[in-house]
Amino acid sequence: MKKLKFKNGDELPPIGLGTWLSKPHEVYDAVLEAIRCGYRHIDCAYVYKNEIEVGMALDYAFRYGIVKREELFVTSKLWNSDHDPERTENAINRTLSNLQLKKLDLYLIHWPVAFAPGKDFANSAGDLVSLRDMPLSITWQAMYKLKQKGLTAHIGVSNFNIPKLRGLVADTKIKPEVNQVEMHPFLQQNDLLAYCQEQSILVTAYSPLGSRHLIKTDEGIHSHPVIIDIARKHQCAVSQVILAWGMKRGTSVIPKSVNEERIRENFGALKIKLDGEDMEKISAIDKNLRLSNADFCVLPKGSYTYKSIWEE
Ligand SMILES: NC(=O)c1ccc[n+]([C@@H]2O[C@H](COP(=O)([O-])OP(=O)(O)OC[C@H]3O[C@@H](n4cnc5c(N)ncnc54)[C@H](OP(=O)(O)O)[C@@H]3O)[C@@H](O)[C@H]2O)c1
Repeated sequence: MKKLKFKNGDELPPIGLGTWLSKPHEVYDAVLEAIRCGYRHIDCAYVYKNEIEVGMALDYAFRYGIVKREELFVTSKLWNSDHDPERTENAINRTLSNLQLKKLDLYLIHWPVAFAPGKDFANSAGDLVSLRDMPLSITWQAMYKLKQKGLTAHIGVSNFNIPKLRGLVADTKIKPEVNQVEMHPFLQQNDLLAYCQEQSILVTAYSPLGSRHLIKTDEGIHSHPVIIDIARKHQCAVSQVILAWGMKRGTSVIPKSVNEERIRENFGALKIKLDGEDMEKISAIDKNLRLSNADFCVLPKGSYTYKSIWEE
């Protein structure tokens, strides 16, 4: 597997632990379990409302020598209500304090949409701020300053498509180091992946298993006959096939689990070596099925539409 390297030689681990919807009382054990079994990347965000508990687990892991700080890659994300450059430094400092860290490895703009200050969620159009009033380029320059100040080693974006990536670089001349986007066999996003790879932007695949929506249904990725056949062939779990596919495409994957067995099972995907035939078969089951479609910010009379967000 080709290593995912930043320009300065740092590595983005191929697999990390997701923490969205991990309840505060569950995430502490999940993070420790993941670190013990070998994960070296934890994906966090302010808005997941569990960074304090993640931080307690990290503190325990460092204090008792389970892992060293420099061996662990920690990502967090700037929430939509903190896009104003006056707020970005406070936002990262709050996250650093919650995580009990001095510096992040990676800080991402969570979504290409802005909310009014203090709004974790938007209930009406008035809670949204348009990109005309709060351009992404302004926020991005503020992110760059956080990197210059040493508060994060790397900066990137999330949920950005090709036009938004192009626009950001054209406006600021600062290239994102990572784009974290939804990617799984039912949403393969080949053009976006190819563009990022050509531009040396590392890609992290979120909801790499298809999220909770596609796991427990008969139409889900886990029940797809192609995936089941490949799992049989390699005598492994279907989740391992799905994650191995993500990693073989050159993306890092960040499956979320709070279950000890599934955390271990997912990490085992590193050992699964899919061949060209497996990859081709999986590439044929794409459905262009987006699960995180940003419906939380498409509101009556609001500044955002599906078209303005996804530009497709
Ligand atoms: N940047 C963004 O906007 C964004 C958006 C969404 C997600 N993310 C990040 O990406 C991470 C992963 O995405 P996700 O949480 O949406 O979805 P996911 O990792 O694709 O799927 C998580 C779901 O799968 C279950 N699961 C995990 N391993 C399993 C296995 N081996 N077998 C069967 N079920 C399994 C989990 O339940 P259990 O916990 O019970 O195992 C959970 O319900 C998030 O946690 C978050 O860190 C980022």
